[in-house]
Amino acid sequence: MSAWLGATLVAFVLIIVLLIIKQLFWNPRLKSVKNKHVVITGGSSGIGKCVAIIAARHGANVTIIARDVQKLEAAKNEILHACENKDVQRVEYLSLDIGANYENVEKALADLEKTMGPIYMLVNCAGIAICSKIEDTTPDSLNKMIHINLLGTYYCIKAVTQRMKASREGVIVLTSSAAAFLGIFGYSAYCSTKFALRGLAESIAMELRPYNISVTLSLPPDTDTPGFAIEELSKPLETKLISQTSKLVNPDVVADKLFKDALAGKFFSFIGLDGFILATLCSGMSPFKSISELLLQALLMGLLRIVSAFYLICFDKIILNCITTRDKNKKSE
Ligand SMILES: *[C@@H]1O[C@H](CO)[C@@H](O)[C@H](O)[C@H]1NC(C)=O
Ligand SMILES: *[C@@H]1O[C@H](CO)[C@@H](O)[C@H](O)[C@H]1NC(C)=O
Repeated sequence: MSAWLGATLVAFVLIIVLLIIKQLFWNPRLKSVKNKHVVITGGSSGIGKCVAIIAARHGANVTIIARDVQKLEAAKNEILHACENKDVQRVEYLSLDIGANYENVEKALADLEKTMGPIYMLVNCAGIAICSKIEDTTPDSLNKMIHINLLGTYYCIKAVTQRMKASREGVIVLTSSAAAFLGIFGYSAYCSTKFALRGLAESIAMELRPYNISVTLSLPPDTDTPGFAIEELSKPLETKLISQTSKLVNPDVVADKLFKDALAGKFFSFIGLDGFILATLCSGMSPFKSISELLLQALLMGLLRIVSAFYLICFDKIILNCITTRDKNKKSE
């Protein structure tokens, strides 16, 4: 009896190891962006600019969208330098507030396609993060995040899908956050918008698959960008301590992974072991790309749920400690 149990256990572990090896080392055929038009929102800095540079290296015509013309101009020059073949590739920018008004976005993207060609790949990177406890969150910062993170992404995708569907090809990327897998202290507004992007991504993935359009949801952890530096300024201590449990990654690492996963047609694009654990644990009813991915998720989900409990308990302890320390400091004042 115990021999059977042992054998079953060994087989179970073996299957998981094999599945992980396959996921890690089996390279699916990637789509190509060569001679195609790639549009990146939030393309003047951070992850967006890195994606634009990678697309240029792969021979695409690139348009970056952001608001600040000076930053766009500077980023455009950087991207031009990265072009595989400067004689045939084009790099343009568009100064646009994507979250303000749908009609504006629709017209701007339609005009852009007339001058730069049909959009093959749309990468939504524009986003902001402002941290604070819910009682300290101003309606203004909540509004900003809803407009840029959610509405901006929704508007841009809505504006391009009809033409993408007609051409029977396309790649859409939404940049969410690892904070779309779990709510985190201090992120009530930010998490709300990033969770929403997951709902958006799952819905359109189902709508667009029959038209040969793939949808990828990028879920980066804290990334070392100009936006992150600003976010740090407003972060409550609890949020900082919780965030420190995972390490800061470089934007080019996130961009590289996002680009590969999108061209491989994967739904989730995550970074590192933490990302793998969260994506597996939270895969729920999300789309899957292969049977091996599905099996791995199914086999590991229950186990990882137990692991998640340790993290949650640890986070609760951090928060309680902060409250106790603050109370002590108040009394001694
Ligand atoms: C990219 O730009 C070049 C130069 O203007 C143009 O010839 C080519 O058709 C463009 N490609 C696409 C896909 O728009
Ligand atoms: C689907 O799109 C890819 C490019 O993304 C293209 O190479 C392929 O031919 C398309 N397949 C169909 C059936 O249209």
